[in-house]
Amino acid sequence: MSKTVLNWGLLSTARINRALIPALRASKRSHLLAVASRSADSADAYAREWRIPRAHHSYEALLVDPEIDIVYNPLPNHLHAEWTIKAVEAGKHVLCEKPLALSVDEVDAIAAAAHKHGRVVAEAFMYRHHPQTDKIREIVQSGTLGELKLLRGSFAFFLDREGDIRFDPAMGGGSIWDVGCYPISYMRTIVEAEPLEVFGWQAVGPTGIDVSFFGQLRFGDDIYGQFDSSFVTPFHSRMELVGSEATLIVPKPFKPGLDDEVFLVRDGKTEAIEVKGIDLYSGEVEDMADAVLLGKHPRISLQDSRANVATIKALLESANKGVAVRL
Ligand SMILES: NC(=O)c1ccc[n+]([C@@H]2O[C@H](COP(=O)([O-])OP(=O)(O)OC[C@H]3O[C@@H](n4cnc5c(N)ncnc54)[C@H](OP(=O)(O)O)[C@@H]3O)[C@@H](O)[C@H]2O)c1
Repeated sequence: MSKTVLNWGLLSTARINRALIPALRASKRSHLLAVASRSADSADAYAREWRIPRAHHSYEALLVDPEIDIVYNPLPNHLHAEWTIKAVEAGKHVLCEKPLALSVDEVDAIAAAAHKHGRVVAEAFMYRHHPQTDKIREIVQSGTLGELKLLRGSFAFFLDREGDIRFDPAMGGGSIWDVGCYPISYMRTIVEAEPLEVFGWQAVGPTGIDVSFFGQLRFGDDIYGQFDSSFVTPFHSRMELVGSEATLIVPKPFKPGLDDEVFLVRDGKTEAIEVKGIDLYSGEVEDMADAVLLGKHPRISLQDSRANVATIKALLESANKGVAVRL
């Protein structure tokens, strides 16, 4: 490919765009060219507010814009697979928000379309690109913790925004899809293997989604994972990695900043380890540029996304049936 700068289009005026836009603007290999909305007025107003050169009055119009190279898909979860596939069929590469899809079959359909049309599709788990995550993996792999035994993770925040897409079961709402997906992804990334068996409990809210989820994961080699996610407690996020010799505490695992500390606890003593970061959303933007311009594999493969979705589905099945589920 002879291009050096990729044109991006935002598929909707989603709130999360605000996090991606500064990263796109900071990237030398990216240009934010267009935004699309279901409503012409909101597309025009959004383009004005965010100084985006082009406003498309439908999602279809963005997909047929020949100058768009990469589509960012931040639609409600139930539309991730449908619009990612439509974008790929229109010849676009896609950075799609987490969760990539709501079933393994949907991930397989995305992978088939991406393969057929020779396009890159990657799930936007931004924390995976941050130096802190690399540092944590390096510490675990160095054997500093001894043998990894237990991983614990939490991601919760208080959600009371009426009409939020996260409350709607038909849109793939629920705390496990929205934030539980992070500690699940984190544990799988650190262990570098898939869970063999899971068990879950959920607290179901008035709209029928899990407002809280509590999960257990059994990996091979006697490694165990536990996590919780919730919409009914104040913001809380953390990872704890317990080894046979030491424990690593990560206070900001999913939204690390520019200058954070992680803590190594050994023999009752705590050592702070400083980790310099980058803008949280820059990594996924540069990863797409590497994949499209240089032909590199995206950091988050579709097989990886498939395994995360499979784990979430198994946990939901467990919570619904009240039994452990093998993967
Ligand atoms: N990685 C992260 O840090 C992060 C953070 C937050 C959210 N997310 C993910 O990003 C996605 C969007 O979350 P958000 O909080 O930004 O959502 P949001 O503000 O509710 O935006 C969703 C957008 O989808 C469009 N849309 C199309 N069909 C819709 C429908 N039937 N109902 C409602 N909206 C519809 C709307 O745009 P138009 O009206 O313009 O068409 C709407 O603005 C989710 O998948 C979420 O998991 C990721």
